[in-house]
Amino acid sequence: MEKKIGVIRGDGSSPEIVLEALRVLQKIESLFSHHFTFEEIAMGGAAIDKYGEPLPQHELEKCLACDSVLLGAIGGPKWEGLPGEKRPEKGLLKLRAGMKLYSNNRPATLWPQLADASPLKKEIADKGIDFVVVRELIGGVYFGEHKTFIEDQEEKAVDTMPYSWHEIERIGRIGFEMAQKRRKKLCLVDKANVLDTSRLWRKVLQSIKEDYPDVEYSEMFVDNCAMQICKDPSQFDVIVTENMFGDILSDEASQITGSIGMIPSSSLGDGTRGLYEPIHGSAPDIAGMDIVNPIACILSAAMMLRYSFDMEKEALCIEQAVHRVLDAGYRTQDIYTEGMKKVGTKAMGDAILEAMHV
Ligand code: IPM
Ligand code: MN
Repeated sequence: MEKKIGVIRGDGSSPEIVLEALRVLQKIESLFSHHFTFEEIAMGGAAIDKYGEPLPQHELEKCLACDSVLLGAIGGPKWEGLPGEKRPEKGLLKLRAGMKLYSNNRPATLWPQLADASPLKKEIADKGIDFVVVRELIGGVYFGEHKTFIEDQEEKAVDTMPYSWHEIERIGRIGFEMAQKRRKKLCLVDKANVLDTSRLWRKVLQSIKEDYPDVEYSEMFVDNCAMQICKDPSQFDVIVTENMFGDILSDEASQITGSIGMIPSSSLGDGTRGLYEPIHGSAPDIAGMDIVNPIACILSAAMMLRYSFDMEKEALCIEQAVHRVLDAGYRTQDIYTEGMKKVGTKAMGDAILEAMHV
């Protein structure tokens, strides 16, 4: 199969992990006789340096002309002083909105090999962690009205959190459909005791739940959910939630699985074109040191094969290779525990390449 993949190498230590993911995709090409072309796209800090803005229109259009886009992570201290509109993060938000990717899927899975790396007590971790945060990605407070102004001689700021029925229904249905393919439990996480938007989320999900009679539907306040994720994560299957709650909960979820360096994500809209990225940041403090964990980015490439290209065997080939190297004791420093083999970014990539076969 021929596919055109957009590649955003990103900032900080991100180019190092993207490189490993590209090597993995090239190995897939040769093992399964596919042909991928890679189109380099600038977004984030790299685009600010090159074009003076985090996502110029021509770079967004390049993404829209690809079959899918692979991204590392963007941002860093170099660009932190810039005004909101000019920051690298704005490029990412513009990209998600420009590609109409409203559904962000962030799995929280405890790899059995990494049980010792989880900060949870053994008896909690042993019950298993295998849930997904389905995060609404192009609405809510991220995309509401933002302003800073002076009133009564005082500086003030406002961020609004709008949601429409339609925006909630489409992501709600994704959540129910995902639950149907998994353990058939969907939990809506919100703050309905305080927020009108949350009450609308409940109304919409309650109105569509009859269409999914096989799914057990529940609702939970976000503060309680933050607590439950540490206390008993095995209770969750699919969590569906608005943009900012999903951002926060998915970081928390990643920690209980051992490392944020292990968690990939997919972002999709109505079609098959998606954006695939690790959920971690660009880790500028360890850039160029060959220590960043490439696994989240490599697993993101696997998700791209599965969800955008319908290449299930190819995705499994990558995931099984990751299992094998973890079984063999290879660990980057973020997942290192005593007695294991500590390796750098490139050596981890090499080991995964080596472990990939048909
Ligand atoms: C993420 C990141 C982004 C977000 C930032 C970089 C804008 O934290 O992908 O989770 O908040 O969505
Ligand atoms: Mn985040």
